Amino acid sequence: MKTRWIGTSWKMNKTSDEVAAFCQQILPALQGCPEWIQSFLIPPFPYVQQVGEALDSVDTLTGVQNICWAEQGAYTGEVSAKMAKDIGASLVEIGHSERRELFNESDHTVNLKVHAALEQGLMPLICVGDSLEEKRWGVSLESIVRQVKIALHGVSPEQLARVWIAYEPVWAIGEQGIPASAEEAESGLAAIRAGVRQCFGEACAEHTVLLYGGSVNPDNAAELLQQPNIDGLFIGRSAWQAEGYAQLLQIAASVDNEVACV
Ligand code: PGA
Repeated sequence: MKTRWIGTSWKMNKTSDEVAAFCQQILPALQGCPEWIQSFLIPPFPYVQQVGEALDSVDTLTGVQNICWAEQGAYTGEVSAKMAKDIGASLVEIGHSERRELFNESDHTVNLKVHAALEQGLMPLICVGDSLEEKRWGVSLESIVRQVKIALHGVSPEQLARVWIAYEPVWAIGEQGIPASAEEAESGLAAIRAGVRQCFGEACAEHTVLLYGGSVNPDNAAELLQQPNIDGLFIGRSAWQAEGYAQLLQIAASVDNEVACV
């Protein structure tokens, strides 16, 4: 069976009471997941440990939404990869379009953070995406492949085995987002896999974990998961309530996994 990665980042949402309620409500769904579904949750920093402890009995990975590229020192307000690891995170989201747009994150800092994560044994979940302008200009694929190649610059083939990449078209994310069609998502991820192949060869590219994110919901999840280059889903709003996340896990469990194999 091919592993399916199904997870969510809460962005800057929830309080500790809401986190506790979510964890309690989602537990039965996580316990009932087939072992080939890898669930993951990316809460805001203050709740990473709480989520890890509440879901200790199930095989769910927890992550953080950002790290600093530096190891330690005079970086007020920042959190290092080592600190994230220390509070139980096993993955780190890097380069989400909100970070790129609102906090001036560049392809270069994304690359620095990927290295910082890998050095501390965190798995980087690298987010790349094309803007609406790039889509209109017909340069979406060039743009996302460029972002991927810079993010992975200097990464070894051994390290690549611990990297996840999410294609999240900027035009598909959030309230105003228009979900990508399954074909659009697949063509973006096929281009990303081809870019990884160019840099690391066929064997590495074949095993790289590729996710789609951007207005994933119960109506489009199954079709997205049936695309050959989509290994999993990175979900926002639709999985912020336990009921929604449980529904998406159930959909993933019901997709014909053999058909979906690359
Ligand atoms: P959305 O968010 O599913 O709410 O569009 C996706 C994301 O930002 O990763």
